[in-house]
Amino acid sequence: MPKPILLGYASRYGSTREVAEAVAVILSDKGLEVDLQPLRKVRSLDGYRAVVLGAPLYIGRWLKDARRFLSRHREALAKLPVALFTLGPLKKDEKDWADVQAQLDKVLAKHSWLKPVASELFGGKFDPAKLRFPYKLLVTLPASPLHRMPASDVRDWEKIRAWAAGLARKL
Ligand SMILES: Cc1cc2nc3c(=O)[nH]c(=O)nc-3n(C[C@H](O)[C@H](O)[C@H](O)COP(=O)(O)O)c2cc1C
Repeated sequence: MPKPILLGYASRYGSTREVAEAVAVILSDKGLEVDLQPLRKVRSLDGYRAVVLGAPLYIGRWLKDARRFLSRHREALAKLPVALFTLGPLKKDEKDWADVQAQLDKVLAKHSWLKPVASELFGGKFDPAKLRFPYKLLVTLPASPLHRMPASDVRDWEKIRAWAAGLARKL
C-alpha cells in the first residue's frame, strides 16, 4: 500500500475546510491516497509521505491550530514534502490582494525552515453575522480593517481545482 498524504487544515468558520475538501477530491481523483484531517486532531506524521496544509490568515497570522501544528511537528515536517495553501483576501481588487500577499510573505519568512514544494494564496469567505467572540467584538472597532466589511466569498473554485491538479503531479 502506498503511504497516504496528510491533507490537514485549520478553519474557524469552515471556509478553509471546504477548500481542503475540494483539494482532497482532486488529489483522490488523480489516484493519490489522501487523509483529510483538522490539524488539531493530528498527533503524529508517521506513516505519511507528504503533507498539504491549509490555513486562513487571521490578523496577519495563520490560524492558531496551524501555528501550533507547525511548531509541534517541525522536525518531521522538515523531512517531508509540504505544500501550503492560505486563505485571506476578502475582496477581488488587486491592491487588497497584494497587501495580503505581503502579509503571507512575512508569515512564510517567519517559518523559513519550512521549504514548501508549493504555496498558494486563495480568496476567503467572510460573514460578519456569523462571527463569535472575540472576532465579533474586533470587527465593531472603527480601526479594524473589517469594520463595516460586507459579507463576501471570493474563493475561486476553478483556481483551487487547477492548483490541486498541478499539486497532484508534484506529489
Ligand atoms: C477576525 C478576522 C480577521 C481576519 N484577518 C485577516 C488577515 O489578517 N488577513 C487576511 O488576508 N484575511 C483575514 N481574514 C479573512 C479570513 O482569512 C477569511 O475570512 C477566511 O476565509 C476564514 O477562514 P475560515 O472560514 O476557515 O475560518 C480575517 C477574518 C476575520 C473574521
